[in-house]
Amino acid sequence: MACVVGILMQKISNNLAMVDMNEKFLQGELLDLRHSSVYLNDAIICGGKDYSVSANSKVIIVTAGARQQKGESRLNLVQKNVEIFKCLIPELVKHSPDCILLIITNPVDVMTYVAWKLSGLPCHRVIGTGCALDSARFRFFIGDRLNVRPSNVHSWVIGEHGDSSVPVWSGVDVAGLRLREINPDVGTEDDKEKFSELHTKVVRSAYDVIQLKGYTSWAIGLTGASVTRSFLRNTGEINAVSIFAKGYFGIDKDVYLSLPCVLGRGGVSHVLRMRLTEEEACRLRKSADVVHEVVCSVKL
Ligand code: 2OP
Repeated sequence: MACVVGILMQKISNNLAMVDMNEKFLQGELLDLRHSSVYLNDAIICGGKDYSVSANSKVIIVTAGARQQKGESRLNLVQKNVEIFKCLIPELVKHSPDCILLIITNPVDVMTYVAWKLSGLPCHRVIGTGCALDSARFRFFIGDRLNVRPSNVHSWVIGEHGDSSVPVWSGVDVAGLRLREINPDVGTEDDKEKFSELHTKVVRSAYDVIQLKGYTSWAIGLTGASVTRSFLRNTGEINAVSIFAKGYFGIDKDVYLSLPCVLGRGGVSHVLRMRLTEEEACRLRKSADVVHEVVCSVKL
């Protein structure tokens, strides 16, 4: 629902269909949103239990699935959510064969791989929100630390959307000024200013929010809305989304991971071959191993 409201309020689209197995809850949300039509660009919002309501969608955003409980890691959710996807994905693609599938369900890298396998769609049209959210959090924490607007901080988190994600400290720049040029130790153990704590905060973010309110919604919902805008408006925006990463940076396994990609109406058009330090590339391959181990445990 945070994603829906983000899309409607930012006028990313005013024609949405929502599918949920909890029909009573969905009808309540639909009514509540329809009553807001005058504030929502007279949006056309439909919904129901039947997947046909989503027919001919350009972008299908999948959030269905069990979510992390307090203290639970994203990777713990896998087989529960794979069973849900086995019913969900083929039905959605049957009604919208030309869609881009945007997966939010966790563990998102594994679930995006599963969605790709179940959908039969080309891999550039099956994408996970992945580290787009981690990169947004990273920008926020760096901006907060330096007392500058997060939108003036350019920094990427890549790899698993989870505990093994990789902060690309070598590429962090504020309005074009590389932090490594000011402090060569930034992000390393030798850094007296301990910037590396900011990536630890990124990894802990979801756990901290879940501990307080039971789930995360706004940051992930608005991340989904932002990535959706890139597809629908063919913006060419670059974002760290979860893609089929085999062949990049020495990754030799069938795995979805986040890398900075150019996004447009066809999904992912290009993957940026960013310059990583050997340490960053090594951490990325380790992250690929972590995700791949879980992928291998999945029963499709
Ligand atoms: C998050 O980090 C839900 O995985 C998502 O908030």
